[in-house]
Amino acid sequence: MNINIQPDFYCFCSNASYKTILAKQTAIPLAFLQFLDKYTECTRGCGSCIEHLRDVLDEKGHLFE
Ligand code: FES
Repeated sequence: MNINIQPDFYCFCSNASYKTILAKQTAIPLAFLQFLDKYTECTRGCGSCIEHLRDVLDEKGHLFE
């Protein structure tokens, strides 16, 4: 699976683009649940980005359990 991160992918609950969120994970990698807690508002918001972000992290080699 090849996931292309488009600049317009945006998490409204986190008020941040996926690129901004992934830049944080690249700089300081965290386990997935910590990633969600520290770098996003997904678990406090609608949650619709969680599975997509997980796939993107996996594709980019930045998914840690
Ligand atoms: S829009 Fe991203 S979790 Fe709600």
